[in-house]
Amino acid sequence: MISYSSSKINLGLNVTDRREDGYHDLETLFVEVKDLTDIVEVCRVEESDQDVFEEFGIKVDCDARNNLCVKALNLMREEFGSEKIGATYIGLCKRVPMGAGMGGGSANAVEVVRLLNKVWGVGMSNRDMEVFVAKLGSDTSFFVNGGMAYATGRGEVLSPYAKDLGLQGKYLLLAKPDLGVSTAQAFSGISPMKWDKPLLSVLDQPIESWRNELKNDFETTVFEQIPYLGQLKKYMYDQGALYASMSGSGSTVYGLFDHKPDAEFEHYFRCVRL
Ligand code: C5P
Repeated sequence: MISYSSSKINLGLNVTDRREDGYHDLETLFVEVKDLTDIVEVCRVEESDQDVFEEFGIKVDCDARNNLCVKALNLMREEFGSEKIGATYIGLCKRVPMGAGMGGGSANAVEVVRLLNKVWGVGMSNRDMEVFVAKLGSDTSFFVNGGMAYATGRGEVLSPYAKDLGLQGKYLLLAKPDLGVSTAQAFSGISPMKWDKPLLSVLDQPIESWRNELKNDFETTVFEQIPYLGQLKKYMYDQGALYASMSGSGSTVYGLFDHKPDAEFEHYFRCVRL
């Protein structure tokens, strides 16, 4: 079975508190980007009892054992046993950049769980999957249903967000330089603090006002470490973006446009539709 796993951007991100378990509480709006995907294949291996994992596309900079697709398979087997989940082939064609703040790896893990559920007839509901995949990362649960969701907790407490923000059909320009910081590093630089105006009320205002009100708390420290990312954000506005921000803990910087931007710069970039 083959399917696509999507990606996401964050609209606003407030790190509100540091927790005792080493994570942080946050609030953010996840927005699925259906137009930028990886391809995931999962099927039974009939002729042997060995799993097979194959990678194509952008090189993933970690050992196959640490790839979230393989971790998802191992966790499913731990949960349901090897009688239920036999030898499995997983193919991953990677197109969403890594270390990007776009949730590509998390989305891969969720797609593997979804496909294993079908291929081996496990019978998990979407709600079961939301809870299960939270063990694989903080933004994984979002990819079970996708769309738009308001997230709290460490990112796994989700409420579907049904308001029309006028995003549909907008152009999303994505810039992802090679430079990056790890998620853990980005969190460690932050002094958590609740915003005066809650995220949801900022989102209620017209897109044009987001520029001054809708923040990503990671920008202050990450832009200090990598000033080029701040320049990319300015570039988005120079090109006429309605709103521009870093996504998650970076290093993707995105701009939302009414028109197709005529962008040319040397680093990875891509223009997709929302
Ligand atoms: O859970 P995930 O793999 O996305 O997180 C990677 C690291 O980022 C965690 O080990 C933790 O250090 C940090 N993190 C955090 N608070 C969150 C999410 C992640 O401190 N809400």
